[in-house]
Amino acid sequence: MSFSIGSSSANMGPRGALHKFGVEKEGRFFDLRVILRMLAYLHPYRRQMLLAFGLMLVASALTLLTPYLIKVAIDEHITPGDMAGLNYLALLMAAAFGGLYVATAGQRYLLSWVGQRVLAQLRDQLFRHLQALSLGYHDTHIIGVTVSRVINDVAVINELLSQGLITLLGDMLVLGGIIVVMVSMSPRLALLTFTVMPLMLLITYFFSRRAKVAFRETRSTVAAIVGDLAEGIAGMRVIQAFAQEVGAQTRFDRVNRANLQAHVRAMALSFIFLPSVEFLGMLATAIVLWFGALAVSQEQLTIGVMVAFLAYVSRFFEPIQELSQLYTTMQSAMAGGEQVLKLLDTPPDVADRPGTREMPPIEGKVILDHVSFAYRENTPTILHSINLAIQPGQTVALVGPTGAGKTSIANLIARFYEATEGVVSIDDIDVRTVTQQSLHRQTGLVPQDPFLFPGTIADNIRFGCPDASEESVTEAAQLANAHQFIVDLPDGYQTEIWEGGVNLSVGQRQLICIARAVLANPRLLILDEATANIDTVTEVFIQEALERLLRGRTAIVIAHRLSTVRHADFICVINEGRLVEQGCHAELMARGGLYRDLYEQQFVRSNSV
Ligand SMILES: Nc1ncnc2c1ncn2[C@@H]1O[C@H](COP(=O)(O)OP(=O)(O)OP(=O)(O)O)[C@@H](O)[C@H]1O
Ligand SMILES: [Mg+2]
Repeated sequence: MSFSIGSSSANMGPRGALHKFGVEKEGRFFDLRVILRMLAYLHPYRRQMLLAFGLMLVASALTLLTPYLIKVAIDEHITPGDMAGLNYLALLMAAAFGGLYVATAGQRYLLSWVGQRVLAQLRDQLFRHLQALSLGYHDTHIIGVTVSRVINDVAVINELLSQGLITLLGDMLVLGGIIVVMVSMSPRLALLTFTVMPLMLLITYFFSRRAKVAFRETRSTVAAIVGDLAEGIAGMRVIQAFAQEVGAQTRFDRVNRANLQAHVRAMALSFIFLPSVEFLGMLATAIVLWFGALAVSQEQLTIGVMVAFLAYVSRFFEPIQELSQLYTTMQSAMAGGEQVLKLLDTPPDVADRPGTREMPPIEGKVILDHVSFAYRENTPTILHSINLAIQPGQTVALVGPTGAGKTSIANLIARFYEATEGVVSIDDIDVRTVTQQSLHRQTGLVPQDPFLFPGTIADNIRFGCPDASEESVTEAAQLANAHQFIVDLPDGYQTEIWEGGVNLSVGQRQLICIARAVLANPRLLILDEATANIDTVTEVFIQEALERLLRGRTAIVIAHRLSTVRHADFICVINEGRLVEQGCHAELMARGGLYRDLYEQQFVRSNSV
C-alpha cells in the first residue's frame, strides 16, 4: 500500500560518458600557482627533500667525474706507461661508481618515501573535503569522476612533486656540466658533437607538441572509462532487467576503444621519439669517433680526451630523453593539480558561518516560516512558502503524491540544504546559526532509501554510536522490531551486509535503519518511509516499532502507509511544493480534498489486492 508510486531517489541514467568528459581543460606546462600550492605539501618533508637534493648533487658530480677519470687513466698512465698510479685511479673509479650507486638509490628511496606520504595526505584531505561538501555538490558530480580525481590526478601530482622536480634539476645540472666539461677539454670536438643539437631540438619540439595532445586524450578517456564503469556497475540491476546488456556493452566498448587508441597513439609517439634520440646519440658518437680519431692521428687530441668524449656523449642524451618525458609528466600534473585544487577550493553550499554555536539540547519545536526552496540556482522552485509549526513531542505526517516535495522538506529540517527563502527553526533557533554537527547529532534520520554499509548488521546499527555495547545494540533492534529476523539469520548480528545491503529485503533494511536511529536516541526524528511495497507482517512490525520509537519525541514522518498516518497528531498534505491541507484524519476526510482522494485511491487498491 502506498500513496505514491516509485521513488525519486537517485536515477542513474546511461549518459554519453565520452561526450561528457571528452574535453579536458589542459593545464599549462608551468603554472606557478599550482606548483606553489603543491610545493606546500613538501614543506613538512623539507629535511628529506634537502637530503635528496644533496644526493642528487653528489650523483650528478659523480656522473661527470667518471669519464674524466678515464681520460686521466689513459693520458697520464696508460699512454706514458706509468702503471704505478693506475691502482690508485682504479680504486678511485670503483669508489666513484659505488658512490653513484649509493647516492642514486638513496635519492630514489627518499623521494618515494616522501612521495607516498604526500599522496596519502592529499587523498586524506580530499576525502575530508568530500565529506564536508554538502549533498548539493554530490548531487551534481558523477561518482566515477570524483574517484578518478582522488586516485589518478593525485598520483600524477605525486609523480611530479617527488620524482619530477629533483630529476629536472639533476638533468639540467648534468647536461650543463657535460657541456662545460666537453668545451673545456676540446672546444672543437665539442662544437662538432653539438651539430646534432638542432636536429635534436626539432625532434623534441615536434614530439612534445603531439605528445601533449595524445596524453591529454589518454587522461580524458581514462576518466570516461572510470565513469562508465561506475555507472554500469551501479545500474547493473536495471541493465539486466531491461536486457540492455548489449547497449551498455556497446557504450563501454566505445569509451574503451577510444582509450585504447589514445594509448596506442601516445605510445607510438614515444616509441618513435626515444629511438630517434638514441639514433642521434649514435650519430654524435660516430662524429666523435671520426673527427676524434682524425685529430688524434694529427696529434691535436689525446686518446684519453676522445674516450672521455665518447663516454660523455652517451650520457648526454639520457637527460634529454628524461627531460622530454618529464614534459608530459609536468603537463599531466598541472592539469591534475588544477582539478584537485578546484575540488579542494569548492566551498560547501551549506557551511557553518563564523560565530555559529552548538545546538543546545533539542526540546523539539520545529517551525517552517514561509520556506521556499530550489535545489540549485536557475532550477525551478520546488517548495513554495511553506508554513508549518510542530510542538515538542508531536508526530506529524507528511503525505502527498510522488515528487510533491516531502523528502525536500525533511532535507531542509535536517539542514542538508538551506532554504532559499524563509527560515527553518528548531526551538526558535534558526538552523543556520548552529553547527551542522551539533544539529545532526541530535536528529535521527531514517532515509527513504535505507542505506547500509558493508560490514556486519551490528556495525550498521552501531553506526551513529560506534561505542555502543552489544546489549544496547540488541535492545535497539528489539525496539525496532528487527531483533527477530536478525537472530533468524545464520550469523545473527554478525551477518555480513553486502554492498548496498542487497542480501536483505528493503523492509529489513529499513528496520535496521530504524534500529540505528533508536540507538542514537535523537530528540527529533525524521522518518522517510520507503515507498517499496512491504508485506503486511513487516508493515505491522514497522508500525509497532514506530509507535515505540516516536513516543516522547518530535517526529516528522513521511508516510506512504495509512497505518502511520492514523497515529499522527496531525497530517500535512503536500502537493506540488505547497502545503494544501492540514488537520487530523477525520477532518481531512470530511473536507473531501486531495487527502480524501489519495485515501480512497489507496483504500480501493488495498481492497482490490
Ligand atoms: N537532489 C535533488 N536535486 C534537484 N532536484 C531534486 C533533488 N531531489 C528532488 N528533487 C526534485 O524536487 C522535487 C520534489 O522531490 P522530493 O524528493 O521532495 O519528492 P517526494 O515528495 O519526497 O516524492 P516521493 O514520494 O516520490 O519520495 C521533485 O520534482 C524532484 O525532481
Ligand atoms: Mg521522497
